[in-house]
Formats: sequence, C-alpha cells, structure tokens
Amino acid sequence: MKMKDPYMDFIDTKYKPSSTDVVVLFRVEPAKGMSMKEAIGRVASESSNGTWAELTTLKEHIRKIRARAFYFNGNYVKVAYPIELFELGSIPQLISSVAGNIFGMKALKNLRLEDMELPKVYTDAFKGPQFGLDGVYDKIFKMKKRRPLLAHVPKPKVGMTTEEHANVAKNAWLGGVDLLKDDENLTSQTFNRFEDRMKLMFKYRDYAENETGERKSYLANITSETKEMLRRAKIVKDYGGEYVMVDILTIGWAALQTVRDECEDLGLALHAHRAFHAAFTRNERHGMSMLTVAKLARLVGVDQIHIGTVVGKLKGSKKEVVDLDHEMTLQNIGEAKDVLTENWYKIKPVVPVSSGGLHPGLVPYVMKLLGNEIVVQAGGGIDGHPDGVYAGARAMRAAIEATMEKVPLESYAEKSKELAAALKYWGYSKTK
Ligand code: 3PG
Ligand code: 3PG
Ligand code: MG
Repeated sequence: MKMKDPYMDFIDTKYKPSSTDVVVLFRVEPAKGMSMKEAIGRVASESSNGTWAELTTLKEHIRKIRARAFYFNGNYVKVAYPIELFELGSIPQLISSVAGNIFGMKALKNLRLEDMELPKVYTDAFKGPQFGLDGVYDKIFKMKKRRPLLAHVPKPKVGMTTEEHANVAKNAWLGGVDLLKDDENLTSQTFNRFEDRMKLMFKYRDYAENETGERKSYLANITSETKEMLRRAKIVKDYGGEYVMVDILTIGWAALQTVRDECEDLGLALHAHRAFHAAFTRNERHGMSMLTVAKLARLVGVDQIHIGTVVGKLKGSKKEVVDLDHEMTLQNIGEAKDVLTENWYKIKPVVPVSSGGLHPGLVPYVMKLLGNEIVVQAGGGIDGHPDGVYAGARAMRAAIEATMEKVPLESYAEKSKELAAALKYWGYSKTK
C-alpha cells in the first residue's frame, strides 16, 4: 500500500480563512529536488500539528485545526492557522508555532516569514503601548507643535566612567537634546554601575531642565536578567524617570511582556532597541522580517522602536523603513506584495526612532521620509562634532528646526555656527 504524503493534507487552495485565523505570509524556496507544493505542505504541517509520518493517533477534531496553505503567488505563500492552535497572550508560543521548526527543514533552501496578520481575538489579549505616540508627545513632552524628538547616545558607547558619561549627557541636554539614551550594550559594567549612573544622570537631567526650561528625559537601559530589570525599573521610577529602555530581542519576548506589565504599574514609557535583529532579519531570503518583529513589539506594548534611517550606517531599504513606519503609526494597514493587511483596533501607534549613523546633514532626508513625529537619534553625529558635545547637540537641533521651518540647512547655518561647522565637516554624506 503506497504511503500517502501526509503533508498534502495541509494544502487547500479552496480554503477561505475565517476572521479568527492567524494568517502568515511566507517566502518559500524549496530545496533541490523538492517541488513548491512539497515544500509548502511541510511549512504548513510542521508549523501547526503535522509531521513526516501518517499518524494512527490523528482524529478529525485534531485534523480540523491544522494549518492550510491556501494562497500561492510565485515564492509567496499564505498559510492560515486556526486560533485554537495558539495560547492567547503568549508571544513565545506564537513564535514557537509559526516560526519554530520550519526554518530548519531540509525540504527548504530558504524560508522567510514576511508578515503575520493577527485577528482581533488575538490582539485583544494584549495591552499595546501604554503611552503610544500621542502619550509621548502630549503627556511626557507636552509638546503642542510636534517636532522630531532629538535623542543622543553618549559615545564611546561603553568605557566611560559614570562621571564622564553623565557629563556628556549634561552638555547634550543643555545643547538641545530632548532624550538621552544609554547605548544598547551599556547596562551595569564595572566602570559605570547602573545605580551610580541613575543617581548622576537624573541629577543632571533636573539641572538641564531648570537651565533650559525644556522637558528633558532619559532612556535608561535596564536590559538584564528579568527580575533584575524589574528592580532597575523601580530605581528609574524612584528618581522620577519617565522611560526605561530594553533591547527587546536579547531580553526575549517573555521578558518583554513582563517588563511591559511592570511599566504599566510604574507608569513608565518603554523604549525598544532592536539590537540583534539583523542576525535574522537582514537576509531577504531567509529568516523573519523586521516588520514582524516590530508588529509583535507594538502588540506587546513598546512606546518607541528603532526602525532605521535608510541613509545611515545600518542596512535598511527605503521600502523597509517606510513599511515599518506605516506599521507602527497607522491603525489600518493595506495589503502589498510582502505585507499583509492589519487592523490595529485599540492598539496605539508607536513612535518610530531613526538612528544609526545620523548627523545634521542627514536630518532633512529622515524628516522628509518619516515626518515630524519621530525620534531622531545621533551618537557620533553629536560627540563627533568638531566643536564638542554642546555644539553637536545644537547643530542637530538646528537641523531639525530648519527642516520644520522648511529652510535649507545652508541658509539656516548663517545663524547657527554649530550647524555651519557640522555641514563643513560632514556635509550631507551618507555614513556606513
Ligand atoms: C537601529 O536602528 O538598529 C539602531 O538605532 C542603531 O543603533 P542605536 O540605537 O544604538 O542607534
Ligand atoms: C549605535 O549603536 O548605532 C548608536 O547608538 C547610534 O549611534 P551613531 O549615531 O553613532 O551611529
Ligand atoms: Mg547604539
């Protein structure tokens, strides 16, 4: 008796997804000797409730909740997953399901999870951002005429003592930076212990607020073991902080959900750094899209997230950055070749953060591409300014103000010597 190929039961081109199905868009490249159908059957089977053998244990009530690959367009395939396959409220279980074993299957040469459409029954199980874009501008910065928030990461990113770090921060805040951000790998090293840094940074934050009359805030990186992160978040709260920052991928999705809940209790906004994402998002033929990572982060409830610059030192095409910007700021997303529709219902928009290799000459491009309700972050673009940190901050702020007033940087530089010096030094050069 010829063995039936059990994988074929997971392909049904007549299937119409129900309103409670999770739909995932994959880009599939079969391995040599494998047909597209054989590859797709394996993707849908292994990411739901099938395996390589025909099972004596299979019953109709189990078969009924299997995934079905129902749409094929070249390498693009949509797979529908009945909601019963998932534990509501658990990102780890979602990823272990639709992105668990399948990337390792021999039947595939490459596989990329491009996007997932999450039904209301699934998104209702999450809080989403506590502040969101409006909360950041209206509650934290109380900014009537919204402009890009200027952020700065003191450089060298690690190695400075607490005093050296805090001094750079003070001058940056005085020069016009709104948000001071710890770098992704600055947590609590021997030369700059977390507790020491918090004590001095909030002292200088308060000083800079009094000196400038402007709201100044601090993205304190609490990335660490989960219980330790909760302890550090409380320290930030005790100093009157407004934000904590976490590296969402290196702390992991379960920890991110825990930190998000803690931030609700503490009333702290959550800044999401995406360090490590490019290990699996960069290759357009294999892995998971940054779009999917950002969607899950919005769902869990970060308030700000890094999405790239296009013109800076980190890879990220214009299409990718614009898709990310839309996914973070709109409530309804339309379908495209490698993007699924999404209705965000009550989940608030997230502030896009553009960072990585920016300097004043690149600010107009970023603002033109992403608008004025973003965070623009510069590390070297401030601390590398020929006249120092304070001048570097003023130059970045001048570039933002000029672009808000639709004045070319060169003209604005006539009344900003710091901007003039930055343009002379870096011009409009892209970084890498
Ligand atoms: C990113 O977009 O990946 C980051 O912004 C780059 O790093 P940074 O936040 O430390 O600027
Ligand atoms: C990074 O880690 O990339 C920085 O935080 C961004 O800094 P940069 O503005 O110096 O690239
Ligand atoms: Mg960094």
